[in-house]
Amino acid sequence: MVLKRKRNAGRFRPGNRPGESTRVLISRARVRQRVRQMARQIRRDFPDDTLHLVGVLKGSVLFLADLARELGGEVSFDFLSVSSYGKSTHTSGEVKLIKDLDVSIESRTVLVVEDILDTGLTLKYLLRLFEERKPKHLRVVVLLDKFERRIADVHADYTGFTIPNEFVVGYGLDFDERYRNLPDVCILQFAQRPAKK
Ligand code: IMP
Repeated sequence: MVLKRKRNAGRFRPGNRPGESTRVLISRARVRQRVRQMARQIRRDFPDDTLHLVGVLKGSVLFLADLARELGGEVSFDFLSVSSYGKSTHTSGEVKLIKDLDVSIESRTVLVVEDILDTGLTLKYLLRLFEERKPKHLRVVVLLDKFERRIADVHADYTGFTIPNEFVVGYGLDFDERYRNLPDVCILQFAQRPAKK
């Protein structure tokens, strides 16, 4: 089959709605390179363990998928879901478990995989929950760290990028369930900011 190059072929359309704009903060190439480095570092720290990746739905899905493919060795996954921001760009401060893990983490080497560490309230809640379940090792991997916004005293063991206090979307991160499919991490801007919840 002969493929003809179409006008705009290969150009990614971010799907902005009126009044919203996105600009690239971290390109897909930088993300790919950093994910590879993080995977190498994690494997060096746990060369012989089966790494049990616990993804926090839904934002971590693309990051977890890429990280898993770079890790090598034995890897398993599980997912859980906690309350999210919904249509707001501000956290309610309350964390609720919506879907628990499918399998026990007892005696496993667990890596909690988060898209972004913001106030840290979600992670604090998860670490308390998981520590009670007696994993062999419990470590935290985050792609992005918005450290200026931290409220809870938590930190990640492996961090991809520290970023400024901006609302970001793409590479799994959403605003109102949109933009998760952007290949780059982008800053979302509003012509007129939506009302805080
Ligand atoms: P935290 O509990 O405030 O640390 O928030 C963690 C969760 O809030 C993340 O897993 C994201 O789902 C969401 N979140 C925080 N900041 C952003 C952002 O800039 N864009 C999209 N989601 C965000």
